[in-house]
Amino acid sequence: MLHVTDLWKSYPGADGPVAILRGVSLELAAGATLALTGESGSGKSTLLHVIGGLDSADRGTVRLGEVELTALDDVGRARLRRGTVGVVFQQFNLIPSLDVARNLAFQARLAGAEDPAWTAVLADRLGLTAHLRKYPEELSGGQQQRVAIGRTLAVRPRLVLADEPTGNLDEDTGAAVLALMLDLVAETGAALLTVTHSERLAARMDRRLHLAHGQVSP
Ligand SMILES: Nc1ncnc2c1ncn2[C@@H]1O[C@H](COP(=O)(O)OP(=O)(O)OP(=O)(O)O)[C@@H](O)[C@H]1O
Ligand SMILES: [Mg+2]
Repeated sequence: MLHVTDLWKSYPGADGPVAILRGVSLELAAGATLALTGESGSGKSTLLHVIGGLDSADRGTVRLGEVELTALDDVGRARLRRGTVGVVFQQFNLIPSLDVARNLAFQARLAGAEDPAWTAVLADRLGLTAHLRKYPEELSGGQQQRVAIGRTLAVRPRLVLADEPTGNLDEDTGAAVLALMLDLVAETGAALLTVTHSERLAARMDRRLHLAHGQVSP
């Protein structure tokens, strides 16, 4: 379903461009889960952002089903991001002026795919039903992260990209939130690509890839 082929990406450095991704290729089947590990600064977030259409590549292609993402313009990429590809960021990026219920429905509303029954199921499964009228600042880190996951899944994306989704949580809370995310992703049939520093988390995925020196290997 996801085909990444020979992706290159560099950032400007003091002595000219620094290549962060040097020909990354990977495949992810529908419904499959993949953990991406690698040292800090190895380019994991960069890769995720390019795959998610949040950043452009210098070279190479990202194809999602029949759609070549790397050939889309900003508008096309934004549309895809609202519907087909869901991203869970490390810093949650919840909207502070909206309560939990509205945060959960926000992206689905943008995508024109509101489904109150499904949003209610997600709120229930994520243990958020008692917090629907609260605002993000009134939630714990683990609760905020569950809202961020619910908001992404509310759209029923075909591909979920998660950048250290439990990086801000203690080990036990992180494991519980992750288990929940894995269950929900499996139920929606979405594929999941998650960046993680946690061995324990990586071990629960179907496959894992390690990013080093701009390239991925098993
Ligand atoms: N917008 C940018 N401009 C210039 N350099 C950047 C930019 N974004 C990232 N970099 C550099 O690219 C490299 C890879 O960054 P990236 O954030 O992808 O790493 P990472 O593997 O996600 O690290 P971490 O585990 O710490 O999150 C780093 O050296 C970083 O400094
Ligand atoms: Mg990162």
